[in-house]
Amino acid sequence: MRSFTVAAAFAALAVANPLPQEIDWAAVDALAPIPTVTIPVVDVSAQASTVAYEPSAAATSIAAAVKASGVDSDAPTGLKARGAAICKPQPLGAGPAPKEDTPEAFLAYPEFSIKANAASTPSGYYNTFKDLKASNNAYGYMGYTVLSEYSTDICASKCDAIEGCAAFNLYYERDPTVNPNDQSCANPPSTTNIKCVFWGGPVNGENAKNAGQWRKDFHVVIAGSNGYVSNKIVTPPGCTTPVYLGNAAINAPFDCNGKDTYLGVRIFQKGPFDISKCAAACEAQADYARAHPPANGGEIKTCQFFNTYMLMKNGSPVGQYCSMYSASWGSSYGTNYGQFRGSDKYSVEWSYISSNSTNPNPACKPKA
Ligand SMILES: *[C@@H]1O[C@H](CO)[C@@H](O)[C@H](O)[C@H]1NC(C)=O
Repeated sequence: MRSFTVAAAFAALAVANPLPQEIDWAAVDALAPIPTVTIPVVDVSAQASTVAYEPSAAATSIAAAVKASGVDSDAPTGLKARGAAICKPQPLGAGPAPKEDTPEAFLAYPEFSIKANAASTPSGYYNTFKDLKASNNAYGYMGYTVLSEYSTDICASKCDAIEGCAAFNLYYERDPTVNPNDQSCANPPSTTNIKCVFWGGPVNGENAKNAGQWRKDFHVVIAGSNGYVSNKIVTPPGCTTPVYLGNAAINAPFDCNGKDTYLGVRIFQKGPFDISKCAAACEAQADYARAHPPANGGEIKTCQFFNTYMLMKNGSPVGQYCSMYSASWGSSYGTNYGQFRGSDKYSVEWSYISSNSTNPNPACKPKA
């Protein structure tokens, strides 16, 4: 089994696909699905919880894995179970509430929509949706905090302070005033929390799918949900400033000599979206290629350019895709906007390209 998976990883990394660079289904199929994250309920012990991220440690571990051509064991860890005192009072939220204390009245309460629709977009971010009645299940859960007011600026400043935070989701949540974990308090009065949830990958209307939950007889529901994505992106050391391709992936032709510059792919599923992960894989691929020259004495192809993006399946994240090339292609080659596979729609979000800054090795373009 081990030898099989190692061989599969090697194949995914080192063997060039036929053109064009279709999404590598073998690499996608080898992935475990990203588990659905349950955002913890608001309680005294966890009014704010964030998930730490160490970019340099992530890059180092990816480089080591690629150099060894091993298999990613990138499975997000589950959340810890909470202790459960009976009917324990919960902190009161700062949000307004409708007169009638029902989930239906909460969902229909105009105040939430007014606030959500009037919210400004913080600088450095763009808005992806407004006023939904669901929260996101995006990529790279990084924790949440409760706010004392519905403020996109405050939520953004908290996201900015978290390493790897790339997006946030701000919303009103109808929560119980006591922990409804016993029949004696199965449907207590509600309080409105203003939740600011941090993500390591883009939030969008398609992955805003969590419309609440039942806790005993209490219905947790969500309203006034807005999503914002950061346009702040770091430049990995030794690389050119990443160029944003939006929803398009590079689809490089053979070069002017009829040679394929595409090297293969790595897909990351742990932690936030981070261009540095792909840069680390690219650099490590070059080390791997030099250590394993072609048996026929052919040219050693090292990674000098990469394209990294979030691969989405029907709007939900599959992972951070990282395709590597031995030569640099310009953004005009970003022509793959995703693909259908049966009825499943695979799409590209947050696509960036970057080259080795000392040796970008511009591709010799084929004649048109
Ligand atoms: C850039 O390319 C040079 C020459 O191929 C190589 O020595 C160097 O490690 C590369 N840098 C990165 C960041 O990959």
